[in-house]
Amino acid sequence: MDWKLSSILASIITLVSTTLVVKLLNWVWFRPKKLEKLLRKQGLSGNPYRLFLGDMQDFGNVMKTEQPKTLKLSDDLPPHILPYYHNIIHKYGKLSFVWFGPSPRVNVADPELIKEILSKPGLFHKPLPDPIGETIVGGLLFLEGDKWAKHRKIINQAFHMEKLKNMIPAMFLSCSKMIEKWEASISSCGSSQEIDVWPSLEDLSGDVISRTAFGSSYEEGRRIFELQKEQVKLVLHLLQFSFIPGWRYFPTNANRRLREITKQIESLLRGIINQRGKAMERADGEIIRNDLLGILMESNFREIQQHGNKNVGLSIEDVIEECKLFYFAGKETTSNLLVWTMVLLSKHQDWQARAREEVLQVFGKKQPTFDGLHQLKIVTMIFQEVLRLYPPAPLIIRAPTKTVQLGSTIIPVGVQLTLLIGLLHHDPDIWGNDVKEFKPERFSEGISSATKTQYSFIPFSSGPRVCVGQNFAMIEAKMALAMILQHFSFELSSSYLHAPFPIMTLQPQYGAPLIVRKL
Ligand code: HEM
Repeated sequence: MDWKLSSILASIITLVSTTLVVKLLNWVWFRPKKLEKLLRKQGLSGNPYRLFLGDMQDFGNVMKTEQPKTLKLSDDLPPHILPYYHNIIHKYGKLSFVWFGPSPRVNVADPELIKEILSKPGLFHKPLPDPIGETIVGGLLFLEGDKWAKHRKIINQAFHMEKLKNMIPAMFLSCSKMIEKWEASISSCGSSQEIDVWPSLEDLSGDVISRTAFGSSYEEGRRIFELQKEQVKLVLHLLQFSFIPGWRYFPTNANRRLREITKQIESLLRGIINQRGKAMERADGEIIRNDLLGILMESNFREIQQHGNKNVGLSIEDVIEECKLFYFAGKETTSNLLVWTMVLLSKHQDWQARAREEVLQVFGKKQPTFDGLHQLKIVTMIFQEVLRLYPPAPLIIRAPTKTVQLGSTIIPVGVQLTLLIGLLHHDPDIWGNDVKEFKPERFSEGISSATKTQYSFIPFSSGPRVCVGQNFAMIEAKMALAMILQHFSFELSSSYLHAPFPIMTLQPQYGAPLIVRKL
């Protein structure tokens, strides 16, 4: 009997371990080799597959070498903002791929192919984030299918123009705080002062999101966002090891701290949301505050009431994920846009003067209004040109849900696609020979006249999954720039080093020290 039992056990163990070994070998060797053969047969090139790591080591080395480099403002940007992809395309041509561990990713920078991908979100999904990355970005950004549609419908209402209009006072308050701080710092040493505007602009967008997302619970919101800042740093560190299966369960200090912070954030958010939920129930679904959380909860409440069914709405966990995402998606991207705008307007004083003239014409020295912000044509053109040259998100990724034909290439499941926004925006075939130059006048007749096709300029992506916060970001950026131009003039400090680099988003490596002068 004992003998029989142990032989059954041994057979089960052998079967399970053989299956695991076969699966592992398939994942780490046979599948990548099969995909590589298929891609090469169709004329695509890239480095030969290297066991487990693929191009990851080279990728890390190139990023390490490129990161500290500084460049001239007139230099070509793609080698710095997308260094590894640029190298691969330089070596292998446009029809090329990069190995992300055992997964090949095909480079795409052709507007027609990008259109094909972005207009069919059912066919091209977002690859699921790494479980470590998921601690900071969840929610709408990575949902698919019906669940995405349900969340998007509810969240769209929170970002409706009418709702954004009510957020103007909160944005104004945050901008005023920054202006006062700069004024105080200048007053203490004459009429001008060197200020590194980058940390101020990062604080500004964090402050705007805290106020517009949580309104009266702003202080708790701010605490959440401070924790999230630490969380992002830890995640960036841990992502280096993300290709090691189960790494997040290793008892390292970073993993432990990440778990602690994640718990703290969720419990703070749950507290705010529960409090709001109770207040809303007492008020029979009436909107309690004009902040993003209030609007999100109200549209959720209405959706549930309309259908008489809780399943049509968002759960508390869903709302938590969306709030975390607002901060993550909204903070760095908008501060990126503002910092590169200030750098470029420092270099191009003529455009700074034109923008100020427009702002003073519309508002004088008065508080910018929602309607006035929409009249700012020069400022809009400047932002568009900055987003072209310095897209805060220089690439996005998609994965086909079934074997598809993309142009003349068959893309099987398992191959991913890197949509290289940073290269698309710098392609001389699309933008002309002056592609490297800062020329906001390209956009004087709107985006469609500036570009050959709708999908040539996509800083906010495009199609059904276009950035939901696009209008929010543009209103915030316009309010901030208008107020800066009303109060100050600025130029590059001699200590400024130009070093844009993609760390999640396109950041100024050495800050942005400018000489800021009170007007
Ligand atoms: C200059 C500022 C911004 C830029 C350049 C930007 C860019 C983008 C891009 C490129 C995507 C597509 C990502 C992908 O498909 O993988 C995206 C999606 C998204 N963005 Fe933004 N974003 C900005 C500001 C904001 C703000 C302020 C918020 C919210 C407060 C926000 C919330 C989102 C969300 C929720 C999505 C996912 C939409 C979906 O998948 O349906 N973004 N953004």
